[in-house]
Amino acid sequence: MRRLTAETRLHAADLVLPLFVREGISEPQAISSMPGVFQHTIDSLRRAAVEAATAGVGGVMLFGVPEVRDAVGSAADDPNGILNVATRAIADEVGDALVVQTDLCLDEFTDHGHCGVLQVASADSDRIVVDNDATLERYRAMALAQAEAGSALLGLSGMMDGQVASVRDALDAAGFQDTAILAYSAKYASAFYGPFREAVDSQLVGDRRTYQQDPANRREGLREAELDLAEGADIVMVKPAMSYLDVLADVAAVSPVPVWAYQVSGEAAMIEAAAANGWIDRDRAIEESVVSIKRAGADTVLTYFATELARGL
Ligand code: PBG
Repeated sequence: MRRLTAETRLHAADLVLPLFVREGISEPQAISSMPGVFQHTIDSLRRAAVEAATAGVGGVMLFGVPEVRDAVGSAADDPNGILNVATRAIADEVGDALVVQTDLCLDEFTDHGHCGVLQVASADSDRIVVDNDATLERYRAMALAQAEAGSALLGLSGMMDGQVASVRDALDAAGFQDTAILAYSAKYASAFYGPFREAVDSQLVGDRRTYQQDPANRREGLREAELDLAEGADIVMVKPAMSYLDVLADVAAVSPVPVWAYQVSGEAAMIEAAAANGWIDRDRAIEESVVSIKRAGADTVLTYFATELARGL
């Protein structure tokens, strides 16, 4: 009876697996705060993507960890940069079986760890301010490099104003009308990104509060999504997921396009840590958390548990 009357169902195609690829390593590296998650070599990335595709997962979201960083994140739009090389490899391998997606943000590529180009010369100044419009130019270049490499869906996670319209314009002008945009619309300045910083070897100085949202604000989340919709977002996202289910429900109630949510690194880490201590049932907690995110309104969930969950469905 419960199965027959369930209002929310998980389906493998509604899950997206985030994957990390690191330049200059010969063996995959474990990430201590994310049990079971690795910084991949191109080869192990390929295998992880094939495993996800075989399990029926709907997509993979690629993050690059470059060997060399600089103030403007030059490796991000270099066709030979790690993320673009990896995208070509994965798109070739599994591009027909699932949607190959890329993180479009500068933080993995800058030596100060911020999502954009900085206004102030010194990264250790006590107030870090990104140069919004100079950053848009970098995002446009990144978008073209990623589309060229075969990414089907660009995940704009940098929270610069006008980024969706700007990237859309660059893509269209270059003939990439079919490359879609996933807007991380309501992205909060969250403590739950902690383990991700280890995953991408983040060089972050200061915090992201001058461009990510205040956890205290609910209406603002909806407003950010509306702006991205007006700018041409194909999908809007709320991130993190579990602490922002109210925002997710608000966005889902009005969005004419798919609404996604990201169960971020710290959310996964809490489940892993509690389960490792025997304090919660790991499998049930994973399923309950993802079902709850879908129940709140997410059509699709980015989760580090995607392949594992999909296999169990
Ligand atoms: C930015 C980006 C971040 C995450 C995804 N894209 C880090 C941040 O904004 O600080 C975090 C994802 C996670 O914690 O799992 N490139």
